[in-house]
Amino acid sequence: MCGIVGYVGNKQVVPLIIDGLRKLEYRGYDSAGIAVVNESHDLEIRRAEGKLRNLEEVIRLSPLDGTYGIGHTRWATHGRPTEENAHPHRDCSGRIVVVHNGIIENYLQLKEQLRKTDHQFVTETDTEIIAHLIEEYLKAERNFEKAVRRAMQDLKGIFALSIINADEPDMIIAVRQGPPVVIGLGDREFFVASDIPPILQHTRDVFFLGDGEMAIINKDAVRVTDFEANSVQPAIQRITWDPIMAEKGGFKHFMLKEIYEQPRSVRDTMQSRISLDTGRVFIDEMKNITEAEFKQFTSIKIAACGTSWHAGLAGKYMIEQLARVQVDVDYASEFRYREPVMDENTLLLVISQSGETADTIAALRETQQLGSKVLAICNVQGSMITREADGTILTHAGPEIGVASTKAFTAQMVALYLLGLYLGNLRGTLSAGEAKHHAQQLAELPVKLEHLLNESDDIEELSKEFFRATDFLYLGRGINFPVALEGALKLKEISYIHAEGYPAGEMKHGPNALIDERLPVMFINTREEGNRSSELRYEKTHSNIVEVKAREGIVISVLTEGDTMSATMSGHPSYRSFHFSFWLITSRCVVAAMSTNHATWQSQSPLSNKPTIDHRCFSVFAFSIAFPPMSLLK
Ligand code: BG6
Repeated sequence: MCGIVGYVGNKQVVPLIIDGLRKLEYRGYDSAGIAVVNESHDLEIRRAEGKLRNLEEVIRLSPLDGTYGIGHTRWATHGRPTEENAHPHRDCSGRIVVVHNGIIENYLQLKEQLRKTDHQFVTETDTEIIAHLIEEYLKAERNFEKAVRRAMQDLKGIFALSIINADEPDMIIAVRQGPPVVIGLGDREFFVASDIPPILQHTRDVFFLGDGEMAIINKDAVRVTDFEANSVQPAIQRITWDPIMAEKGGFKHFMLKEIYEQPRSVRDTMQSRISLDTGRVFIDEMKNITEAEFKQFTSIKIAACGTSWHAGLAGKYMIEQLARVQVDVDYASEFRYREPVMDENTLLLVISQSGETADTIAALRETQQLGSKVLAICNVQGSMITREADGTILTHAGPEIGVASTKAFTAQMVALYLLGLYLGNLRGTLSAGEAKHHAQQLAELPVKLEHLLNESDDIEELSKEFFRATDFLYLGRGINFPVALEGALKLKEISYIHAEGYPAGEMKHGPNALIDERLPVMFINTREEGNRSSELRYEKTHSNIVEVKAREGIVISVLTEGDTMSATMSGHPSYRSFHFSFWLITSRCVVAAMSTNHATWQSQSPLSNKPTIDHRCFSVFAFSIAFPPMSLLK
């Protein structure tokens, strides 16, 4: 994943592009570069290995300016992260330059072909051949736009491009085949970017390029065509996000900011979609799925990746419980290659924060080819998945810049819960009273989240006890199992501590071999008074806690306010007023209930030499996500 920014207008382009790239560094930061054309149509390039600040230093030492240009921040795929492999890349004449996000699968074949017509290549990248390919077609076409279009037809793979030809003043051509390209519409100025944040402080009017489309941008206008030169009418939309939402909002890290944005993202995701009086749910973004079809589906398959897959697994518990329809959950990367059994009575539900995850898009397309409908839960309007799905439930988490998904996860949970309620209402498996009860509980969630997030300092203290741990085990039953999986994933993603999530009932079938006085075992053992199956799960999990204690294991538990039974088995029970605390603990490495050998842990710990607190503490600390109302499920 790389970041692209381009600009045509009257402003000084260099600071504008640099600032835009800074907002895209989450997409890649192993090298960066910029190409600018000045008043006298000279094209200048500056590139640097490493973080953006290295490029800024190169520009400080060797300034350049102009009123249109393109920039790139890289996450290397082809060619090492070096200055010469940094983008932009140019052709033999040095007049055509390209920045690229994606992978050209047939670049070696094309390189061989171009070598036959004396093109000289200076980098190891796949991107460089694009500039030479355009140069080659320019000889025949004598028209930059046509040359680009012909070149695009030769490329195989995924590519988001911004291209300049210094002989075509004030023009940028942006191309999309796969990764996202956003075009920003200003007053006699236009922006290209891989995402919305770089554009937001300049304009709110944007459109996403579609797959197989290219935008020809100059100072006066933008034209969009497909690769066959057919004109395309872009779907312009006004972004309501304020620029700050795209910035860190004063938090040390985007991830922390996004964790604290959960009350808003959950509130916005359920906003105007649920009636507290009737419990009815309104999911209005259905392009091509009718209520009759929702009634008739006999099974639902969920396909997703990473955190979205964990949300899908929890969604299975919710939807099966609320709507009594069978739900199966697949990793999209498996689903797309296993020839799933689908028919018109099976609905595929794809879940994706970005709406651009290749495996999930492939699962969607595979399913549509099999003649089944696809519903999407997605966070980015206009993204590929929302464009191709038969219907979309948008989560309103806002831009998620932290690579590890957080607020989008809880927003996905709320969207899944809303879908469960919607289907339950529609299919008559939920009484009006039950629907109303669930709706009210859901409506209380944002406030409970705020309460939870305001209580996190003590957990930060606790996290400092565990950031030296090398392994963690997360255990839960029922809907707490996917929660355990997500907790383990987050710990891995942001702290590089090895962590595994398991159904608590599986502990005795192998994982218990890992348990000793060095292994923190995180139990999610919430319960709802008077709810028989919740009580049953609680008791079973409690006996697992006892087993771990018997093996001198370290028990960290997330309990429901007032729970004393499991609390006594845990050194530092974490009481929260409601079930939702699990995430607070996980991220903050929990309210560890260290067994009496807590002290021994300290002294014996081979990790006694203090690594940088900031890094690991933050990483095990940073992660408080309250979780949708497990208690709402029987
Ligand atoms: C990975 C991210 O790249 O993609 C995960 O690191 C994310 O956090 C996964 O869950 C799936 O992404 P998406 O956008 O399809 O939900």
